[in-house]
Amino acid sequence: MAHKSDLIAEDIEAYLKAHEVKSLLRFLTCGSVDDGKSTLIGRLLYDSKMIFEDQLAALEADSRRVGTQGGDIDFALLVDGLAAEREQGITIDVAYRFFSTDKRKFIVADTPGHEQYTRNMVTGASTADAAVILIDARKGVLTQTRRHSYLVKLLGIRHVVLAINKMDLVGWSKGVFDAIVAEYRLFAGQIGLEHFTAIPVSALRGDNIIEPSGHSPWYDGPPLLRWLEEAPVEDDLREKPFRMPVQWVNRPDLDFRGFSGFVAAGAVAPGDRVKVLPSGRESTVARIVTQDGDLDRAAAGQSITLTLADEIDVSRGDVLSAAGDPPGVADQFETTLVWFDDEPMLPGRPYLMKLGARTVAAQVNEPKYKINVNTLEHLAATRLDLNEIGVCNLHLDAPIAFDSYEETKDLGGFILIDRISNRTVGAGMIHFALRRSQNIHWQAVDVHKDARAAQKSQIPKVLWFTGLSGAGKSTIANLVEKKLYAEGRHTYLLDGDNVRHGLNKDLGFTEEDRVENIRRVAEVAKLMADAGLIVLVSFISPFRAERQMARELMGEGEFIEVFVDTPLAEAERRDVKGLYRKARAGELKNFTGVDSPYEPPLEPEIHIDTTRLTAEGAAQHIFQALGD
Ligand code: ADX
Repeated sequence: MAHKSDLIAEDIEAYLKAHEVKSLLRFLTCGSVDDGKSTLIGRLLYDSKMIFEDQLAALEADSRRVGTQGGDIDFALLVDGLAAEREQGITIDVAYRFFSTDKRKFIVADTPGHEQYTRNMVTGASTADAAVILIDARKGVLTQTRRHSYLVKLLGIRHVVLAINKMDLVGWSKGVFDAIVAEYRLFAGQIGLEHFTAIPVSALRGDNIIEPSGHSPWYDGPPLLRWLEEAPVEDDLREKPFRMPVQWVNRPDLDFRGFSGFVAAGAVAPGDRVKVLPSGRESTVARIVTQDGDLDRAAAGQSITLTLADEIDVSRGDVLSAAGDPPGVADQFETTLVWFDDEPMLPGRPYLMKLGARTVAAQVNEPKYKINVNTLEHLAATRLDLNEIGVCNLHLDAPIAFDSYEETKDLGGFILIDRISNRTVGAGMIHFALRRSQNIHWQAVDVHKDARAAQKSQIPKVLWFTGLSGAGKSTIANLVEKKLYAEGRHTYLLDGDNVRHGLNKDLGFTEEDRVENIRRVAEVAKLMADAGLIVLVSFISPFRAERQMARELMGEGEFIEVFVDTPLAEAERRDVKGLYRKARAGELKNFTGVDSPYEPPLEPEIHIDTTRLTAEGAAQHIFQALGD
């Protein structure tokens, strides 16, 4: 059983040497809560003797004390114990464990099976070569099994083992095993998972884990560990064209300028022509520098620093690539998106996309469809909620270098980050770039914003009034516009109720419609400011993210957020349009402040407390604050 070689004691140097040349398999385990995942991993660690002595002693003691196995070692305690230890620090959702046998080293990503499974699986799977999908023999193929398998396929893991566990509890029945395999094969075929190996095991008893079990004479395949030792490790990455996202530009002094990063695909050697993307400039590799001296070649999986023969512009986030076979450059893509935040993905909302070493602002279009992973049906969708998967077009504020996810995981896989909370809210895979982005160009015009504004003798501004319905936004905005007009200013007031009668009459009051409502009006306000106008925008605009987006669309100092602050109780007491009454009576759904949220501005340029100021007083205050 001992897989840790006796060499350790005899010849540590030889042991380390042998260890160094062993291949490494990264794999992922997935299963539902009680499938025995912890027990399985515990068993692998224990049998390969990769548990530290002190942990082992504690495990034996704990097993006697609280174990569920009547004094026998409870392997689940080992893994769960490590998990508890882990949770004392910063929460890492995926635990990576290391073990090795005489043949191979392993890193196993243990992804917890609770409701955040999508996030954890995507994290764990992004680097995995193989997946172990656990099934409880008593329960068979469950919804979770289908979800996990779908994600495994989606994330491009090609080697899959179906570990049908707890076979001891079904009397090692070949019939049960065969039935589960047949059911799984049907589903696997539908998702395009052509090859998988099914193994009957008992993680608890150690059957078919390390050694073939006497309980399953009808099974002639490998035990799990042998399968893990023999699964092919992907090395075809090295055969692909060279790709290296630049993590940082290394410039210790004026004489040295190196570009550091992780080789995502292919190989590189001094003398190779390389192309820098997105700029498209070319140069030749001069040196490959590492801490241990220069290399004459580096390949996928290595972290290196390159120097180039020419002084060309390369910055963090650029991609160095084989000059003859570079990645594409685009700013619009079709993607599969996996959502794992409690807050839904709302089309048009600004996010940040991180791909390779590059981070750019991104927006997602309305999903083409979302996928029911149980039935594989395509469903219509206007948003993506927690754990949902959909196909969506994505557009960026700037072009990036990319490959399809299928070609190069590292250049086609990305995450989306919420701009306000900084949380990672989703992950995605690029299918292809959309051509239309390449066919639409900016048309040059000769009369510019400055000229138009100068003609009107004014500085364009966007006064953005936000607040609850009935807060007094429109009343105050109207008074401010009158004052500006009287001064000879060129203005326009965009009012929510009015714009919703025309441009936005197709929109209602769901979260996704409100996001689109604000996106459109922000774009219109931008055009009007570009025309040289002073624009007043009076919309509830309940979400910070969209107000932030509007702010960023405008020029520096041009956006002035005016928070018309009226407490809900006061707006409801006034109830000028009678809408609060209707909302409370349940006749009006998604009413802001009642059953739809309002996120007050944190740092508005102007804060109006309407319980202290009259509308006229507020207008006067704003007019003075404009100061020109
Ligand atoms: S926003 O939230 O998308 O910015 P907008 O300012 O365009 O809203 O429209 C708000 C106006 O629509 C309100 O002043 C009110 O007159 C009307 N309205 C109708 N239904 C709702 C609702 N469910 N929630 C808020 N306002 C509503």
